Amino acid sequence: MSQNTQDSNFFYFLCNPGSESFLKEEIRLIYPELRFAYSTSGFLTFKETRPLGKTLRPVFCRHFGKFLKRGTLEEVRAVARELKKPVLFYSKDGEIFEDPEIVFGEYALEIIKVTVNDKDQYYLGEFKSTLLTAPWPGGFSPAKLSDMAPSRAYLKVLDGMDYVGAKLLASDHALEIGSSPGGATYALLEKGLSVEGIDPGKMDDICLNHPKFFHHNLSIQDFKVFDLKNHVQWLFVDMNLPPEGTLREIEKVVEKIKPTLKGAFITLKMTKFELTSRVPMYLTFVSNMGLKVVLATQLPSHKQEFLIYAE
Ligand SMILES: C[S@@+](CC[C@H](N)C(=O)[O-])C[C@H]1O[C@@H](n2cnc3c(N)ncnc32)[C@H](O)[C@@H]1O
Repeated sequence: MSQNTQDSNFFYFLCNPGSESFLKEEIRLIYPELRFAYSTSGFLTFKETRPLGKTLRPVFCRHFGKFLKRGTLEEVRAVARELKKPVLFYSKDGEIFEDPEIVFGEYALEIIKVTVNDKDQYYLGEFKSTLLTAPWPGGFSPAKLSDMAPSRAYLKVLDGMDYVGAKLLASDHALEIGSSPGGATYALLEKGLSVEGIDPGKMDDICLNHPKFFHHNLSIQDFKVFDLKNHVQWLFVDMNLPPEGTLREIEKVVEKIKPTLKGAFITLKMTKFELTSRVPMYLTFVSNMGLKVVLATQLPSHKQEFLIYAE
């Protein structure tokens, strides 16, 4: 059965399966104008019950848009044709069927296939291509995990760089805090960067034997900033500590490397559901370190965690 939304606005959000409850809580707290309507794994819809007076950009989703129509593929295609904009077509689980180029800053349409209990439904939506939405259809990353990568964190580096459009140069130097076993470090070494890693855990030999890698084999609490080997352009943080702990521990390092820093990719682990309400505080914490928070988002390669990118 087809449905359109001429009388009320609906928004849809794609998130990593498992993050639905974080997204629902975030919307409840920060966008009370939106009321939860429907969800299935990785896909949620909300109805606008009062005019949304602020820019929408929840952290715990990869992509979102405004819902225009739901129906059969033929029905939604007919509406899309009339609107004369580029149309992406993908499924909520990551099959990409049509992927026209979308100009950054422009509006585009998308058809999202949602299959529940073997029944296909098609949602037609509209979104603006900006830094607030992922650069890939539905926020599904095209990055592939290298067979050589010591861990899946390899993908967090590739996804993060693509998302923020960061240009890491082979001549740059990166510092990773929480670097073991070495997936992210390996991704950076593959790009030609030199890397210093801080972690009491063992690094994979593929990193240890690399001439452009140095391991500070200790915890961040025991690390002395004057032991840094080089000027740092890129900071990567990925420790399995609660967010407050991570932020407190990296302060001294950020203070030291700020003059040469080009960008910081800070992954914060959502160790408890209740931390959702503290996300704005974490962003303020990073700003108070003297960095400009560019965005906060969940990447496709993230589990119960999210990225703050700051410069
Ligand atoms: C998710 S893993 C990091 C994965 C890594 N980035 C990679 O690319 O393979 C989290 C790491 O944080 C490290 N860690 C936890 N507490 C730490 C601390 N206080 N100082 C430094 N590293 C810490 C752990 O030893 C663990 O290796």
